[in-house]
Amino acid sequence: MDRLLDARELAKAYGSGAKALRILDGISFSVSKGEFVSIVGPSGCGKTTLLMALAGLMKPDSGSILFQGTPLNGPSPGISVVFQDYSRSLFPWKTNLDNILFGMIRNPSMSRADKRRRGLELMDAVGLKGFDAHYPWQLSGGMQQRVAIARGLAAESELLLLDEPLAAVDAQTRADMQDLLLELAARFNQTCILVTHDVDEAVYMADRVVVLTRRPTRVDHEIPVDLGTRRDQITTREDPRFLEIRHDVMAAIRRFRAEVPLAEKA
Ligand SMILES: Nc1ncnc2c1ncn2[C@@H]1O[C@H](COP(=O)(O)OP(=O)(O)O)[C@@H](O)[C@H]1O
Ligand SMILES: [Mg+2]
Repeated sequence: MDRLLDARELAKAYGSGAKALRILDGISFSVSKGEFVSIVGPSGCGKTTLLMALAGLMKPDSGSILFQGTPLNGPSPGISVVFQDYSRSLFPWKTNLDNILFGMIRNPSMSRADKRRRGLELMDAVGLKGFDAHYPWQLSGGMQQRVAIARGLAAESELLLLDEPLAAVDAQTRADMQDLLLELAARFNQTCILVTHDVDEAVYMADRVVVLTRRPTRVDHEIPVDLGTRRDQITTREDPRFLEIRHDVMAAIRRFRAEVPLAEKA
């Protein structure tokens, strides 16, 4: 498979001197074209920090990111982000369709009419047909997050970064959205990196899970999720192999939690 992204020894601390908080402590992993990779780690371990570095939005203190073989030194049209907080990442003064069209802003070769057609197609794909003229704040949380996902896909970037995109939606909607995301990723052959603290979600969604340690954070280990490409909320989650992988990841996360002094536990 073609290598799309190479993160090498990424390190990042917030603050400086004695008060510096070491977050990332030498993170290395790679992603190939077409892969769906989940990154899972304990709360506060620096998942968002890592994703912002991979998006070119935050410069790591050291280490390097190669995107399509070239050093990444800032935001790239080849990389899109779906932020965790959709209510702050959608533009309230733009309609849902215009929010999605904003995702195509860096595609000068497409005519306005084609963009509109594609935007409506994407709204349909995420189950929001008929809501194009509405505003994000007129929709439920789950629907807003679907607008954000459609905007992320609209860019047709080589790489889509997803920061806990389903953390704020209820359990049933969450399961539906997981399947929707998987279906869209397959349909558009979209390479995805999904950051989550939900172990079950990480395993259910991914071709491979990258497990992070607690802070200062490194890659603890990686597990290929050899469960085939078709996932099903009932049968996949009952598959003995799913349970085995889930056990492995859960045990690692619990081990990190046990290492945290009680006072620091939320
Ligand atoms: N801009 C910042 N300045 C200082 N500390 C920060 C900043 N952003 C995040 N942190 C701290 O860094 C740690 C990791 O944050 P984050 O990357 O958001 O973790 P996660 O997404 O895994 O929960 C947290 O303790 C957080 O409070
Ligand atoms: Mg986060």
